[in-house]
Amino acid sequence: MKIIGSYPKSRLRRLRKTSWIRNLISENAVSKNDLILPIFVREGKNIIEPIKSMPGVNRYSLNKLPVILNQVKKYKIPMIALFPHTPNKKKDKFGNEALNPNNLICKSLRFIKKRYPQIGVMCDVALDPYTSHGHDGVIINNEIENDETIKILVKQALLQAKMGCDVIAPSDMMDGRVGEIRKILDKNNFKNVNILSYAVKYASSFYGPFRDAVGSKSKLKKDKKTYQMDYRNSFEIFREVGQDIKEGADMILVKPGMMYLDIINKIKNNFKIPVLAYQVSGEYSLIKNGIKKKILNEESIMESILSIKRAGACAVITYFAIDIAKKIKTSI
Ligand code: PBG
Repeated sequence: MKIIGSYPKSRLRRLRKTSWIRNLISENAVSKNDLILPIFVREGKNIIEPIKSMPGVNRYSLNKLPVILNQVKKYKIPMIALFPHTPNKKKDKFGNEALNPNNLICKSLRFIKKRYPQIGVMCDVALDPYTSHGHDGVIINNEIENDETIKILVKQALLQAKMGCDVIAPSDMMDGRVGEIRKILDKNNFKNVNILSYAVKYASSFYGPFRDAVGSKSKLKKDKKTYQMDYRNSFEIFREVGQDIKEGADMILVKPGMMYLDIINKIKNNFKIPVLAYQVSGEYSLIKNGIKKKILNEESIMESILSIKRAGACAVITYFAIDIAKKIKTSI
C-alpha cells in the first residue's frame, strides 16, 4: 500500500480532534440489531437464581422468563439463545432428555413463542446439557461416536423445530450433522427453519463458566478436543465452513469470539455468508469481574463487542446484550 502524506503536512490527530469528527469518520458501529442474548432456564417456580461464575447472569424458571424477555422486547433485541440447566437425575449416558417433548427447552419454546412471537429464538443442538458425562455426543467404546450422535441430534433438531424454534444451532461439532439436520427439517416441512452452524468452534477453556451455568462442569470427564477444534489451527476453518455451507447452513458461527478475531476476519473475507460470533462465558466473566473490581471501566464492554464487529461479524451472541442495548439509543 502506498503511504499517503507525511508529517507535518499530514497530521492524523486532525481527524480525532473532537467527538463529532470522530463520529463522522467512524467505520463501524454496534446496533441493537447485532445482538443475541443467551438465556438459561431451570426447573421450578418463581426462581431467578444468580450464577456464581457469571456475575449478573441468572437462571430463570419458566414463569419468571418474562422478567428478562420483557427487556429483550423493550430494547428490540432480535434474537435470544436458550440453554437449559437440567437436573442431574434427568441426565443419562445417551442424553435421552434431549428428546423429551416436555424438557425445559421445549416448554420454554412453547411459552416464549406464544407470548413473544416477535422475538427470534435459537436453540443449541448438542447433548451436553443432558448427558451424565457432559459430552456433546454419545460415548461408544470410549469414543464420542460421530454417526450415532447424529442420529440423536437430528431428532433433537426436529423436536425443537416442532416446538417453534426459529434457528437451529448445532454446537456439537460432529462431522456431517448440518446436512442430516437440513434433510430431516425439509422432509418434515420445516424448510423455513434456519440453521446457524457452530462451524468453527474451538476447544476452549473459556467455556468454563457456561458449563457451570448449565450444570455440566462437574460431570465433564476429559476435554472436548476430539471434536472441537485445536486452537493452534486456522486452515481447517475453510473445510469446516465450506462443508457446512454445502450441507445447507444459512449462517456460520465462530466461537469463542474475542480471542478469535483473526478467524472471524478470514471467514468474512473468504465466504459470502453471514458470520456471527459468540462472546463466550469466560470472555464475559473476565470483563464483568474487571468492571466490578474497577480494573476496567464500562466502556470496555462496547470495545469488546465492537472489535468483534470490526473483525467482520454481523451479529454477536453476548451476555452483555441488554447492557449494550441500553447504551444504544436507536436502531433502524
Ligand atoms: C455446548 C455449548 C457450550 C457453549 C455453548 N454451547 C459449551 C461447550 O461446548 O462445552 C459455550 C458458551 C459459553 O461459554 O458462553 N455445546
